[in-house]
Amino acid sequence: MLEAAFHPRAMEFIPQNSEPVPRIHLLVVDADVAMRSACGEIATSLGYAVDSTGDLDQARSLLRGHAADILLVNLPFGNNRALELISEVKLLYPRLSVIAMTATSSVNAAVEAMRCGASDYLTKPFAVDELSTVLDRAAASLTTDTATRQLRERLRLSEGLGSMIGRSAEMEKLYRILSKVAQSTHPVLILGESGTGKELVARTIHAYGPNAQKPFLPVDCGSLVPTLIESELFGYVKGAFTGANRSKDGLLVSAEGGTVFLDEIGELSLDLQAKLLRALQEKEVRPVGATHRIPIKARIVAATNRDLAAMVERGTFRKDLFYRLNVVNLRLPALRDRREDIPLLAAHFLDRISREHGAKFTMSDEALRTMMRHDWPGNVRELENAMERACAMSSGPVLHLGDLPTQLQQQGLAAHRAAGATGDAQSGADTPGVKPLADLEREAILGAIRALNGDKLQAAKLLGIGKTTLYRKLKEYGIADPLQDE
Ligand SMILES: Nc1ncnc2c1ncn2[C@@H]1O[C@H](COP(=O)(O)OP(=O)(O)OP(=O)(O)O)[C@@H](O)[C@H]1O
Ligand SMILES: [Mg+2]
Repeated sequence: MLEAAFHPRAMEFIPQNSEPVPRIHLLVVDADVAMRSACGEIATSLGYAVDSTGDLDQARSLLRGHAADILLVNLPFGNNRALELISEVKLLYPRLSVIAMTATSSVNAAVEAMRCGASDYLTKPFAVDELSTVLDRAAASLTTDTATRQLRERLRLSEGLGSMIGRSAEMEKLYRILSKVAQSTHPVLILGESGTGKELVARTIHAYGPNAQKPFLPVDCGSLVPTLIESELFGYVKGAFTGANRSKDGLLVSAEGGTVFLDEIGELSLDLQAKLLRALQEKEVRPVGATHRIPIKARIVAATNRDLAAMVERGTFRKDLFYRLNVVNLRLPALRDRREDIPLLAAHFLDRISREHGAKFTMSDEALRTMMRHDWPGNVRELENAMERACAMSSGPVLHLGDLPTQLQQQGLAAHRAAGATGDAQSGADTPGVKPLADLEREAILGAIRALNGDKLQAAKLLGIGKTTLYRKLKEYGIADPLQDE
């Protein structure tokens, strides 16, 4: 298992698909020389690269040089300095795994260490096996963490199937949860207004999950009549009803470990809710007209734009089914709550349409400004339709306000008139003391990097943003060298 483990630090800098560096670095901190060298020898024989020290300050300086993925630290009885080190480490290097070693007499210290952020502990004296188990556990969590981050990057880079567009904080948060959720096979409930991307998210969860090669089978509970949903989901036997000339497996069976996507789950009748609950609880179904049961293996991803919790209150949705589906829930943001993604989405759709039409389309400033102000009750789907309509209407490569749907045209004209009446106050440049946020952000980022003599990693930490975000912002601002560029 150690061979399969990735090196998390190296991972950040190597492109996807290249070979990960298979060594995990362990730092042992214990004032007891004999203990230190024993741990070191065992860990080396297990394949770890080991450093050790008996001094907390030296440990700090080794950590500053990013010399460890796992920290094994002794907690001397009655001394809080080691606990301080743990809290500090978790703050500065949250991905590092900490294992605390305690003497039998100080179980409380182990509890305290876990509270400070240690993920595991060992009580002295311990057997070689115990040390090897906790190290393996720490290594495994590093691997999962790395896999999760890689997945997040792939989602963020919006490549391939299920590509999701959006770099707003709301979407970043969604990617973080999504990349974790995709790796498990728990049920997921996707909530969100119409057109926010519920189906796209369901497909993405499947595509990035462990059973991506297996089928993804959508069932629209909103448009099918109940008898049809039942035979779709559970299957039927020959002669079960008129027209059933042969037996057919239900989707829950034919998914064979893939995903069944229950779209518009809020529309499911109470009778079918009961049948679905039973199938999920017992992990088997009884096809319509059959007396036998068939085992099922499928991940359930459900979606709705209804308020299921309120439906539970009203008694129109079963509480037990709600809890079973709601193991993880993803709430998709409305487009009006992530307006900064509008230009990205528009460009994405225009790209696609341009490719289909073989002609390049772009937006005029006025049209884009109007789109940024619109509330998009139909969310991304409405935006996508507006782009398709505009390309179809347009007489040239640039899409103007007049090519947008009538409602947007009227909003655009009204805003234009209002700006004309009051003097356009769009850019704060005209008002003393007011600066556009983007300028302030640019100054903050440049200032931090310069104050830290070019240390971007530290600058990102102090600014409270991720390193990738910092690099992206620099790129957006066109700053190649923050120490040089004005
Ligand atoms: N983040 C996104 N990036 C790119 N395209 C998106 C995104 N979100 C939604 N879309 C696109 O918008 C359209 C609507 O998305 P989808 O069908 O997944 O929404 P929905 O929430 O299921 O809508 P409804 O409630 O109406 O069924 C699709 O064409 C989808 O590809
Ligand atoms: Mg949908």
